[in-house]
Amino acid sequence: MSLKFAIESRNLTTIKTDLLVVNMHDGKVDAHSFANQIDKKLSGELKKLLKREKFDGKAGQIKLINTHGKLSAENVAVLGLGDRKKFDLEVVRKGAAKVFQLAKEIHAQNIVTAVHGGHLNVVNKGDCAQAVVEGIKLAAYEFTLYKKPKNKSALRLVSLLCPDKNKVKEVQAGMKRGEALAEGTSLARDLVNTPACDMQAENLAAVAKKNKGIKTRIYSKAEIKKMKMGSYLSVNQGSDAPPAFIEMHYKPKTKPKKTVAIIGKGVMFDSGGLSLKPPKFMETMKDDMAGGAATVALMSIIAKLAPKHEVWGLVAATDNMPDAKATKPGDVVTAMNGKTIEILNTDAEGRLTMADALHYACTRKKPDYVIDMATLTGACLVALGQRIAAIMGNDDDLIQSLIAAAKKTHEPLWQLPLHEEYKKDLQSTVADIKNIGGPYGGTITAGLFLQEFVSNTKWAHIDIAGPSWTEAPYPYEKKGGTGVMVRTLAEFLKELS
Ligand code: BES
Ligand code: ZN
Ligand code: ZN
Repeated sequence: MSLKFAIESRNLTTIKTDLLVVNMHDGKVDAHSFANQIDKKLSGELKKLLKREKFDGKAGQIKLINTHGKLSAENVAVLGLGDRKKFDLEVVRKGAAKVFQLAKEIHAQNIVTAVHGGHLNVVNKGDCAQAVVEGIKLAAYEFTLYKKPKNKSALRLVSLLCPDKNKVKEVQAGMKRGEALAEGTSLARDLVNTPACDMQAENLAAVAKKNKGIKTRIYSKAEIKKMKMGSYLSVNQGSDAPPAFIEMHYKPKTKPKKTVAIIGKGVMFDSGGLSLKPPKFMETMKDDMAGGAATVALMSIIAKLAPKHEVWGLVAATDNMPDAKATKPGDVVTAMNGKTIEILNTDAEGRLTMADALHYACTRKKPDYVIDMATLTGACLVALGQRIAAIMGNDDDLIQSLIAAAKKTHEPLWQLPLHEEYKKDLQSTVADIKNIGGPYGGTITAGLFLQEFVSNTKWAHIDIAGPSWTEAPYPYEKKGGTGVMVRTLAEFLKELS
């Protein structure tokens, strides 16, 4: 059964619910806060209890209090929001995830919660509502295709407290947006978590086809051949499963302001090809389509988000397998833009699929901006670790806009330079370019390789090799695919003018 969200504008002391959630900052309960209203109803018991238990409202702390019939709500929880000066939307998301865990523990079927942070006037209340919904819905995410969860959450309804009638519209809009974004992120997680045996290029294409409010076209192997995407096709050569070039198209109701092409790496499984990966490195390689998953997932909710721009979503999907027909190190292929590529390492396959997708996007769609997301290099994990994605490109305004969007969604991006001098690392003696650079700066040389296929279009490349997957769960993530970049790209499209 699904989790629903609603607005609650009645007086909080009369609301019937399994769990009523209020908050406090570091230090004390504010005079005008919901927590203070409840304390009064409970004849000062709340403050006494918090003091006794040394609960001072640090970010992420949560305290459950039984109301013993003194309120219509069965239980009250106080969520700590920490230092006011350090407050941001991520405090809300993480706090909301804590609320979900608590609701699950006490088997609450419905909860009513304050729109955390909405009282501060530093962040817009709609954004706070969005963050509450994202935190709860993403914390509730489970991958259940092959294994049913042991202790299921009983939670069915979450109501956001909004006594101020003037704010209802704003809170409602934030709530709806949060629902859509969590839904999209969850889809991206499902697509990544589904193993390659059940998630081949054609399966991803079938999911893309189901998307509402957009047009989707799938190009078959014969059509891909016709378009002369020799670089992309070389990756598919060793596979039994056909490739699928997925093209999704969203058009706003009014005249589009800008055209944006989004490309996601869709290597359904990366064995490395004949340059076979060692077993440990292969274990998580169903994740190598996380960029494509984020692209399909974003397009699945784009009609709900309704940006003012025309958006193309493209995925050159295939797996990378070793077989009798597989590309051999030393082979030379010709990309769609006519450039010849010497493939020295078949494990550097992502850039080969992206090269043709980038050229196709730039020349056929002529977008104002092209943004690509790819689990492109292990070197990115070495440089920035598991939680930060690298961003590079040829347009600083575009890069800065994406960094700003990522700051808001807390999916951090860090810019790396496309240092011209490193281009020589990609020189080949037999072809226009080779598909690997030297031993150092692998994320940058991969970016420089991609740049050869983008012509003059304003372009940003995001290497998500680190944050697309998590081993150690974050408050609103589970081990596995994270669905990273769905929320950031949505935020970017919202703010783009
Ligand atoms: N899919 C991998 C990159 C990757 C590694 C993603 C770890 C997520 C986690 C990519 O196709 C790859 O294998 N890249 C090689 C490039 C090298 C051969 C130049 C790498 O990073 O080792
Ligand atoms: Zn690879
Ligand atoms: Zn790969």
